[in-house]
Amino acid sequence: MDIVLSGIRPTGQLHLGNYFGALRNFVRMQYDAKCYFFIADYHSLTTHNDPAHLHENVKTVLAEYLAAGINPDIATVYVQSDVPQVAELSLLLGMHAYVGELERTASFKDKVRKNPNNVNAGLLTYPVLMAADILLHRATHVPVGKDQEQHLELTRVFARRFNNMYGVDFFPESMPYNFGSELVKIPGLDGTGKMGKSENNGIFLADSDEAIRKKVMRAVTDSGPTEPNSPLSEGVANIFAIMEAVSSPDTIAFFREKYATCEIRYGDLKKQLAEDIIKVVAPIRERIEAIKCDESYLRRVVRDGAEKARESADRTVAEVRRIMGIRPF
Ligand code: TYM
Repeated sequence: MDIVLSGIRPTGQLHLGNYFGALRNFVRMQYDAKCYFFIADYHSLTTHNDPAHLHENVKTVLAEYLAAGINPDIATVYVQSDVPQVAELSLLLGMHAYVGELERTASFKDKVRKNPNNVNAGLLTYPVLMAADILLHRATHVPVGKDQEQHLELTRVFARRFNNMYGVDFFPESMPYNFGSELVKIPGLDGTGKMGKSENNGIFLADSDEAIRKKVMRAVTDSGPTEPNSPLSEGVANIFAIMEAVSSPDTIAFFREKYATCEIRYGDLKKQLAEDIIKVVAPIRERIEAIKCDESYLRRVVRDGAEKARESADRTVAEVRRIMGIRPF
């Protein structure tokens, strides 16, 4: 049977990238497979969170998961630190992860470049902990955005190495997954790079309609095409890329045609994009507000989720211990 798992770090509100990269795919799969969705609070500690805010961030992300459509009666929803078995699996997998391959990971190199004063061991072993998250439940499908592709590749390297080393067929080949198409990268509104929490270029699931309109109207474009079929500048290409996620094929075709014939008005394009984003975000935002206030519901969801996740985790860790030769007297 397919086993689906994904997670998000609780470092602030979720944005459209998290939604289209991970959440929405998960929501679509939850009725057809055994599904685990967790909040990666251990992972968020690599950047030294403020302890005063961590719990609130976990709660926010949990409410946003549920508001986006994750059904905790079907899927197992849990907080990573409620299932500390993952730390043991990470330690055991770490024995077969080479420092060289971890140092070459793009995300590690990026963090070192951006933050040379905090190159902690947790950052280096981040992919090992992520592999442990995935292999803890022997997940076969991992709904993620394009930025996580390399981490999934490493997960498969570790799984294969473990299987080969011990002559077993225990861990699966965990594949990154996007419902029905290639992995997605939702760009930001600032004309560069991907949408991110810290880049200040995002649309959040909790944003008001007005905030969404303002952000989209301020998105970076250019002075307009001067020749038919001219190439798109990065800012305009990004607007079309977000449209691919939220707008109908007819709408996209209409504006592409307008661009190709130099008749496009970016104001109209942005207005349409804002309204199409609002159609996705507004119903989620309304549910976030209601769910966040329901403390006892949130408590029940994480308690039940942790219990189910621990059962599966205990089985995997017991088997890995046995395979590696750790036995009781
Ligand atoms: P994180 O917290 O950075 O992002 C959570 C999910 O959102 C996706 N994502 C995007 N997808 C498309 N376009 C974007 N602009 C965009 N920004 C973020 C990410 O691909 C991710 O799927 N290492 C992970 C968390 C994690 C995890 C795991 C994920 C820990 N253990 C096990 C899956 C399985 C991370 O930092 O994601």
